[in-house]
Amino acid sequence: MDRHTIFETENKIILEAETILKEKNHEKNPLIEPFSGLLTSYKKIFKQLRRLIKLSDKQQLKLNQLNESLEIENYELVLELGQAFESFVRALTTTVDAKHPITAGHSHRVTEYSLLLGKRLKLSDNDLEVLKYAALLHDIGKIGVPDAVLTKKGRFTPEERAVMNEHSVWTYKILSAMRLPQMLKKVPKMAACHHEKLDGTGYPYGFKDKKIPKFSKILAVGDVFDALTSKRDYPKYDGNVTMGFEAMPLDKALSILDKDKGSHFDPVIVTKAIDESDTLVELWQKFHLT
Ligand SMILES: [Fe+2]
Repeated sequence: MDRHTIFETENKIILEAETILKEKNHEKNPLIEPFSGLLTSYKKIFKQLRRLIKLSDKQQLKLNQLNESLEIENYELVLELGQAFESFVRALTTTVDAKHPITAGHSHRVTEYSLLLGKRLKLSDNDLEVLKYAALLHDIGKIGVPDAVLTKKGRFTPEERAVMNEHSVWTYKILSAMRLPQMLKKVPKMAACHHEKLDGTGYPYGFKDKKIPKFSKILAVGDVFDALTSKRDYPKYDGNVTMGFEAMPLDKALSILDKDKGSHFDPVIVTKAIDESDTLVELWQKFHLT
């Protein structure tokens, strides 16, 4: 029963009681007298009760307004913390750029390519956020690679290649040491697995298809696409064929991804990349020509 119905019922009871008492008073019945006093007291209590209910309504309204403003304040704080965290992560990736200027912007570009693929794969907003951080941080382990190897101009010796490949283990070590928010708990493994291949010949763990996290498979496509379409200090490879240092034409890069789908890359993700080639060209132009 809501308070409006309670008040109406109370009014009705009082009115009826007053009517009865008036009628009975004509008969000067001594038994009725105490009821008249009772009804007066009851009316006073009821009036007081109404005042209290009105007061409580006002306080509830104030409480609701306070809650609302606290919620807004809380939302703004969370937003601010999120922005601070993202800027911290982006600053970390800049330290890798500073160590190896020719690859500057690589993590940022891989992030944009990966997010494009993630959207086309219909990932949720939350998953896209996770993918963003895995992409931004995938090469953070390059901090652990000696400069002599990282910035070497030309082909790596097998020993140097092994040292360079260690960067994904460093990525895992560095990210595992960070106290990441709960939703980003899987980012260290996702980021560390960006060089794994479906046939198990990748590194650092040699995981095969199902053991490779889905987001790492997206990163793999974004990572290689950017590596092939950007200028590098070391030559590009197509299987065992050594190619040039310069940025490769985009259709050639996509044809390499297509050729290696099923062995290196997830075919579904490569197909999405090829379907989105026009958007990839636009992104590439934005990154390299502006
Ligand atoms: Fe890498």
